Amino acid sequence: MKPIKILSVVGTRPEAIKMAPVILALKKEPWAEVRVLATAQHRHMLDQVLNFFDIEPDIDLNIMRPNQTLTTLTARLLLGMDDVLQAEKPDAVLVQGDTTTVMAVSLACFYHRIPIGHVEAGLRTWDMQNPFPEEANRVIAGKLARWHFAPTEGSRANLLREGVPDGEILVTGNTVIDALLMTAAKDIEIGIELDPSKRLVLVTSHRRENFGEPFRNICRALRALAEKNVDVQFLYPVHPNPNVKDVAHEMLGNCRNIQLCAPLDYAPFVAAMKRSYLIISDSGGVQEEAPALGKPVLVLRDETERPEAIDQGVVLLVGTNYDRIVSETQRLLDDQVAYGEMARGISPYGDGLASERIVKTLREHFA
Ligand code: UD1
Ligand code: UDP
Repeated sequence: MKPIKILSVVGTRPEAIKMAPVILALKKEPWAEVRVLATAQHRHMLDQVLNFFDIEPDIDLNIMRPNQTLTTLTARLLLGMDDVLQAEKPDAVLVQGDTTTVMAVSLACFYHRIPIGHVEAGLRTWDMQNPFPEEANRVIAGKLARWHFAPTEGSRANLLREGVPDGEILVTGNTVIDALLMTAAKDIEIGIELDPSKRLVLVTSHRRENFGEPFRNICRALRALAEKNVDVQFLYPVHPNPNVKDVAHEMLGNCRNIQLCAPLDYAPFVAAMKRSYLIISDSGGVQEEAPALGKPVLVLRDETERPEAIDQGVVLLVGTNYDRIVSETQRLLDDQVAYGEMARGISPYGDGLASERIVKTLREHFA
């Protein structure tokens, strides 16, 4: 029998982290011919993840350009995908998450009448502006997908509310936990010199809707916290988007106990999460990983498509308001009871077997 050709698409760092376990699981399947397409919406941040998981892309669109607009990015992705789909003629395409890669690839597949499996389907805030443009990206991908691999019952309920047939949805858990379990067990160094006697606050931030004044508020709050808590060290791997990087270096570059560094490779970042006392972040993936590692997260956003950890009290939304960021962080630094309540190791987003469930669905479909 001719093997079934499955094209797995990765564009950015989080897509690669969350798709890697699916690609590795599919590669073990005798019925499947796995092809990996890197749109390379991210370059360095994508490559380091693929290297870590020992995945070599078969096709590379090399889309990244410094600070390109969303319209240019989308147009270049659509044109690139037209050629790829024409040449490859896959039986199915897998996309992950809510980036512009996911939206544009889903649309191109729809035009080519190729079925799409959407990994991490059904996350919603129900607000098109927050997060921007990710809410629109995932709604569009959700409209076009044939298989919806929802991480939680909540995401399944969101899809049902949008009219997706129940039979097209499978609750799998999030593949981010598969990747985390593969990685956290390894003994990997952070690769950054830290004072072992000091508590570590780990910071990440990159959301487009926070660019400008909200991001400046975040930086002001971090600076105030660092100046007040000289016995605490802050480590902030800065996202390379110029709207983040330039401001972060301008506002925090000369603060003694804030260490700015380039994005950490995935495994050292997991080591940094493990070593941290608490995490301040607007990242989607970090909101999922940190609870599994027992680390409280203060989320620099007003709403989230990942309510499960909030409901369990281990993640807290603090927005981009200066006073709120400072007071909630200070509370966790000073109040051991409040800290203990948030530092419980729970994993509402997965059990490490999500990719197995995804592969089983595809196997049963194509058999
Ligand atoms: C993108 C996704 C966002 C996701 C995030 C994960 C979109 C619109 N945004 O945001 O949903 O949460 O990735 O990190 O899909 N750059 C580099 N090197 C890299 C990567 C990026 O220099 O390896 C710089 C480039 O100047 C690039 C810019 O960052 O143009 C922005 O990249 P882009 O992918 O458009 O947006 P992100 O902010 O990274
Ligand atoms: N991450 C990383 N290095 C860093 C910061 C984050 O490898 O310096 C990982 C993190 O473990 C998580 C993912 O990148 O799995 C999250 O990516 P990001 O925050 O860029 O995107 P989002 O999840 O918000 O889409």
